[in-house]
Amino acid sequence: MTISSFLPINEVELQALKERFEKNGQGHVFHFFDELEMEQQAQLIYQLLDLDVERLNEIYKTAIKGAEASVLNSNTTFEPLPEAVFDSVLKSSPEQIRDWETLGLSLIAQGKVAVILMAGGQGTRLGSSDPKGCYNINLPSKKSLFQLQAERILRLQDIARQYQRPSQLKDCVIPWYIMTSGPTHAPTYQFFEANHFFGLKKENIIFFEQGTLPCLTMDGKIILEAKDKVAIAPDGNGGIYAAVQNKGVIKSLKERGILYSHCYCVDNCLARVADPVFIGYSVSKGTDCGVKVVSKVAPEEPVGVVCVRDGKYSVVEYSEISQEVSERRTADGASLLFGAANIANHFFSTEFLERVPQFASQLEYHIAKKKIKYVDMSTGEVVVPKSNSGMKLECFVFDVFPFANHFSVLEVDRKDEFSPLKNAPGTGADCPETSRRDIVAQHVRFIEAAGGQVEQDGNFEELEFELSPWVSYAGEGLADFVAGKIIKTPAIIETKEDLIRSLN
Ligand code: UTP
Repeated sequence: MTISSFLPINEVELQALKERFEKNGQGHVFHFFDELEMEQQAQLIYQLLDLDVERLNEIYKTAIKGAEASVLNSNTTFEPLPEAVFDSVLKSSPEQIRDWETLGLSLIAQGKVAVILMAGGQGTRLGSSDPKGCYNINLPSKKSLFQLQAERILRLQDIARQYQRPSQLKDCVIPWYIMTSGPTHAPTYQFFEANHFFGLKKENIIFFEQGTLPCLTMDGKIILEAKDKVAIAPDGNGGIYAAVQNKGVIKSLKERGILYSHCYCVDNCLARVADPVFIGYSVSKGTDCGVKVVSKVAPEEPVGVVCVRDGKYSVVEYSEISQEVSERRTADGASLLFGAANIANHFFSTEFLERVPQFASQLEYHIAKKKIKYVDMSTGEVVVPKSNSGMKLECFVFDVFPFANHFSVLEVDRKDEFSPLKNAPGTGADCPETSRRDIVAQHVRFIEAAGGQVEQDGNFEELEFELSPWVSYAGEGLADFVAGKIIKTPAIIETKEDLIRSLN
């Protein structure tokens, strides 16, 4: 049997493919080819046909140059954000916040707002084999991160319905675009299907897959993870920009009349999905690309900060600025000058997302050194390394900041909006226990702000109390029920009726 009976490729084309990889210094991907079964050969050829080896080499070269420049370039200038682009909910009046919220809710009511979720990461630090969004952080209700987010959307749709004009015929819908990747796509979709899309309409949840790139050795050679398989990885959360173009998301946004999107990470259990305050704030400032930040807690906190690098809006990693710069404070001494910690929580106009291809070739990929399984080229054995063996190339969602026409930044309260799930259980920071604690503590605060109390001893890691987003998105609608009352625990409050029953 010839190879052509298996594949849309004949012997001449196969030869040309081999020559193309050789010419680009990647001919070793055919090293084991002749000893493979024909089906394995077919699998490898399919993968290689899909791979733009010239572009890959270019991305590698630019990434290396970028990494070297950031180490060597001592002339880089860093400036804090100008006042004109920065606002804070912590320093704004309640009236101002209400105005932003009202604008956001009326835009949601008019069907102009969508959410885009970045859920393509592999969650290696967390160590679960399921996508992160399926993770149960051990809340009293055992809800997954996906379920919490879905319920916030449902609640917001309900609230926004009150802002619809009587003449408005369309139901109030916040479409949810979920970016997955090769490793997370099928299990994510199956999880939603098994959970009946958490009460949302299936047609309003759109799953789309981000791109991948081959993993490379430290000197830029494609890694084979098996003799017939190139090691690949998602191309970073910045892969969102190519994916929204290539996977029909922009087209869908336009067909639905969506003008603005809120884009957030799956692993922030406190994410205010489609936050009307953020939407209203961004739109009122004429923003095309915006970001939420929280205040950096200490100069040495290892987070990226949003600032101006060489005259352009940018996220600067902790390791890129000197201790002296990271310790600088504002004139009143109240906060860090470079204190706008990035939480990967974004606002985009549809017009901005549509414009990205005009500057996409200028986006630089970053090198993430990782332990990547590989085939030893001399022995053919598969090696599972204990230290970093290669690199993944990733683009970051914030890499587009320099290209914004109207950039703006909104600072929010960390305890209300940011608690990321990054690390394995028991690690003590950004782990399932801290996620659970931060949600439960927030729910207690919601009750207290509404004039009530929750029976508790301050141990939020163990407290059996939870308030469903169905009942309250951000603390609203509780005072009529709880003012002057005490809630008995344990209590899992899924409805207003549960709330009434839980009162002493
Ligand atoms: P992280 O950079 O924290 O990566 O992602 P991760 O995959 O969750 O965890 P580790 O680093 O493997 O332990 C931040 C956000 O960006 C998304 C993630 O799903 C998460 O919401 N992301 C990351 C993508 O959507 N695609 C990617 O290629 C990488």
